[in-house]
Amino acid sequence: MNRRVLAALGSAVLALSMAACSGDGAGSGGNDSDQPGDLTIGVSMPTQTSERWIADGNSVKEKLEAKGYQVDLQYAGDDIPTQSQQVDQMITRGADVLIIAAIDGTALSGQLQAAADADIPVIAYDRLIRDSPNVDFYVSFDNYKVGVAQATALLVGLGVQTKDGAKGEAKGPFNIELFAGSLDDNNAHFFFDGAMDTLKPFIDDGTLKVTSGQTSIEQVAILRWQQEAAQKRMEDLLTSSYNSGTKVDGVLSPYDGLSRGIITALQNAGYKGADFPVVTGQDAEIASVKLIDDGVQSSTIFKDTRLLAEQAVIAAEAFLTDKAPQANDTETYNNGVKVVPSYLLPVQTVYKDDIKPVLIDSGYFTAEEVAAGQAG
Ligand code: BGC
Repeated sequence: MNRRVLAALGSAVLALSMAACSGDGAGSGGNDSDQPGDLTIGVSMPTQTSERWIADGNSVKEKLEAKGYQVDLQYAGDDIPTQSQQVDQMITRGADVLIIAAIDGTALSGQLQAAADADIPVIAYDRLIRDSPNVDFYVSFDNYKVGVAQATALLVGLGVQTKDGAKGEAKGPFNIELFAGSLDDNNAHFFFDGAMDTLKPFIDDGTLKVTSGQTSIEQVAILRWQQEAAQKRMEDLLTSSYNSGTKVDGVLSPYDGLSRGIITALQNAGYKGADFPVVTGQDAEIASVKLIDDGVQSSTIFKDTRLLAEQAVIAAEAFLTDKAPQANDTETYNNGVKVVPSYLLPVQTVYKDDIKPVLIDSGYFTAEEVAAGQAG
């Protein structure tokens, strides 16, 4: 039984011994007398500029409400103080469990301490919250494997490898550039590590050449995962490293929003048709799925946010009934203070041929949405 469950049980006992206590304070979740309708789950999401987080927020809210819980869902506009404030408010408004996808994984220690003091269990949603002992559970995907899948998709797109993992016909050398996500997002490091472990042998044997020479995560990271910043960096790379007739063959991009910025820069520089570089992605955002369908972007990594939301709800319900949620990984995610028990979901690479079986047939998007490049 983990510390927080013990704490929650402790508070339940305390609540019983104070039989006439007035109403349910913060963190009172787990009292046997509580009906779902008396319990509130605070859901803090980073931004609405990326559609994946809108889908995540909606899914978590719908699934919790279907079970009768109250939901306090907030988006922070990718602004760290706003997220801190929103979480503070959730705590003072009496949340019984918090589900948080952090903007900056290191910036919420104060809020998490306040949550712990009020016996409110905290579930880190997709992004690990670091440097705090007060993260009780983590639901995410296998983030290292996301990076491996992105790098593999780059190799497959270039023809160096086949989809079944065999050696491809193409020998290179190919000119590639690398991008990573926001350094304050723990996932960005897992994605990049998985990708680099996969690409390194091909860089070492000369099949792949990073023309700019920029290969460290610090050199290739894009703060807050911003599309415009990725476009600007790609433009700068084209000017500085591809000004003498050298062509870009592939770009490792860790997120569809960045991929769209990179693609715009490449298109503006005249890349088109069969010579268009292989560009990877992540999240199966609808605008990028259309680009894949149109043969512009090469691949994306699909992370089914419906399944992630489901796991977050299962974990929240476990805490609300004083049980420890079931982890399937208790080793990988050390947040700097402790290893956070995690439930990790698998991911799927989507090339053009996979759009129908993986995204449309599963009801994630309709064929019309893919054709329009717009959901809803
Ligand atoms: C998520 C990715 C997403 C990125 C940018 C990461 O933490 O795991 O799915 O692409 O944030 O929003």
